[in-house]
Amino acid sequence: NDMLTVDIAGIKMKTPVMTASGTFGFGLEYSDFVDLNQVGAIVVKGTTLAPRAGNSGRRMAETPAGMLNSIGLENPGVEGFISRILPKLKNYQVPVIVNISGNTVEEYGELAARLDKSGVAGLEVNISCPNVKQGGIAFGTCPDSATQVVREVKARTSLPVIVKLSPNVTDVVLMAQAVEAAGADAISLINTLLGMAIDIGSWRPVLGNTVGGLSGPAVKPVAVRMVWQVAKAVKVPVIGMGGIMTAADAVEFILAGASAVAVGTANFINPYVSAEVAQGIKDYLAERGLKHVRELVGKVNC
Ligand code: DOR
Repeated sequence: NDMLTVDIAGIKMKTPVMTASGTFGFGLEYSDFVDLNQVGAIVVKGTTLAPRAGNSGRRMAETPAGMLNSIGLENPGVEGFISRILPKLKNYQVPVIVNISGNTVEEYGELAARLDKSGVAGLEVNISCPNVKQGGIAFGTCPDSATQVVREVKARTSLPVIVKLSPNVTDVVLMAQAVEAAGADAISLINTLLGMAIDIGSWRPVLGNTVGGLSGPAVKPVAVRMVWQVAKAVKVPVIGMGGIMTAADAVEFILAGASAVAVGTANFINPYVSAEVAQGIKDYLAERGLKHVRELVGKVNC
């Protein structure tokens, strides 16, 4: 049965439901109880050239509206990923997409070059991390910087290049058009929305890094709106994410124009959520006599 198969910039997936970077570790952490082959694609943790310890102090806070994080890209570095983690992931059939983050345009290019022949299915260029001082969001909020990063990455790899956009901008369409013109093969959005929580006992910010990225159901309407705006404005496929907890949430993103979706924060609550969302999309299609998920993409009547 192929109701759910999708091809995003040449990445073939059994379902349109992927895991969002950073929320599913390297996949292996979940492999004892989740069948990784049921996930459309695994987008692994944000990877940098050198290993990073991440930010100090408290890094996660739950708020009634969603989750705040300021991890600061803790990861073993690209060589650590290639030598220690990737060989294990190759035991699964699932496409592996590596989220890459640099401090400079050259670092993004170097990451792309090192991963080019590693056997991964694609790259997700993270120009939207809200939790690092250099790089990160600086690239994702400036069309010219984003253009430079995407051009450099494209010049140094033949892998499909997905570019992950930030919601912390006034004009997300401008950013999307800039990265598409620079050669992005697909666009994913949204990364987390910059937020802050304050402890009213100590008068101190809750997070060690003061501010952090908000995710979960609180950001879903913002994400749906941005996916809708971007999908109308570009030709490349759009991967939608932001607060998807159920199949109904995923269908909303697809109607807004997403060709695939990613589940993030919900993985922390229910590790089986990706497979459940995929099954729910299938049921939704079957109930309506639809044959393939593509029949829903961008079909919102406005
Ligand atoms: O919310 C986020 N947290 N988005 C990113 O892109 C990176 C991550 C982190 O490591 O801080």
